[in-house]
Amino acid sequence: MDSAIIRDRDFAASALEGLQADPKWLDSKWLYDAEGSAIFEQITQLPEYYPTRTETRILKDEISALSQVLDPGTVLVELGSGASVKTRILLDAASQLGAYVPVDISADFLEETAKGLREAYPGTPIRPVVGDFTQDIRLPAALDAEPKTAFFPGSTIGNLPHDTAAAMLDRLRHWPGIKALILGLDLVKDTTTLVEAYDDAAGVTANFNLNLLRRMNREIGADFDLSAFHHEARWNAELSRIEMHLVSDKDQTVTVAGTPIAFAAGESIHTENSRKYTREAFAAIADRGGWEIADFLTDAGQLFAVAVLKPKQD
Ligand SMILES: C[S@@+](CC[C@H](N)C(=O)[O-])C[C@H]1O[C@@H](n2cnc3c(N)ncnc32)[C@H](O)[C@@H]1O
Repeated sequence: MDSAIIRDRDFAASALEGLQADPKWLDSKWLYDAEGSAIFEQITQLPEYYPTRTETRILKDEISALSQVLDPGTVLVELGSGASVKTRILLDAASQLGAYVPVDISADFLEETAKGLREAYPGTPIRPVVGDFTQDIRLPAALDAEPKTAFFPGSTIGNLPHDTAAAMLDRLRHWPGIKALILGLDLVKDTTTLVEAYDDAAGVTANFNLNLLRRMNREIGADFDLSAFHHEARWNAELSRIEMHLVSDKDQTVTVAGTPIAFAAGESIHTENSRKYTREAFAAIADRGGWEIADFLTDAGQLFAVAVLKPKQD
């Protein structure tokens, strides 16, 4: 069966599960269709969005330490690769990688990105894999025997519940040939900086969030009126996370995949979590997933960290 049909069916089932729950929620992975991925790239350029430029700075400043886990012949596998912009810092520094395998759920955007990388790095095999990293990912079988370093930047791990994150790290830990994991994580900081990073003055993050309603209208026959919802970013101190919500401005009923969904004025759909970590909180999740921290690299302001992890010995 056509993979787009399966995806639409999964999307509809997942959306209905979340929208019929109380409180309403949607899995954040659906934020990333081709349009969502392109808007996310705009977010990375925003003055309020410190994570991308800070992580980029750390990767550049610490490239000689990071190159230690990128020996010749290593296969670099990136999870949630998006536009693979930061990856270029690693690709530029590593000599003779066995392959680069970007993994992402946003299929069309991934293919476009892979095309650009093949032109820029003709000596490196680029082997994109469309997949959901919260489930088993099938890496190209021909690479099974090769040594691997995984790359999981962008604090994308923070979008996952702790149990899901630990289970994912555990699956990674058991990949054949896995040697190391380079992972970007956002650190706890003052509330204003955090909230502004997810609610920018230009409204780009609001557009990113609202695209989820547009996507449901486009793909699963929903009839959301986008002017009747607004974006909110909320800091949940107890759970150490920024939450993104889409809030209904009035009482209204929307049809999604043939099912009526009632909203009260002020009721929200919780669309994403971005957890913020202390080193200790992150180390506990890494430990549950079978990894230990070999290096913990941060910027001078302690805004963000890049951890180099090694599999714990059984
Ligand atoms: C926060 S963005 C980070 C993008 C890029 N790695 C960066 O650091 O700028 C999250 C990326 O993960 C992808 N993604 C989100 N959920 C996913 C999932 N469950 N499986 C695979 N990719 C996913 C998105 O499509 C997006 O490219």
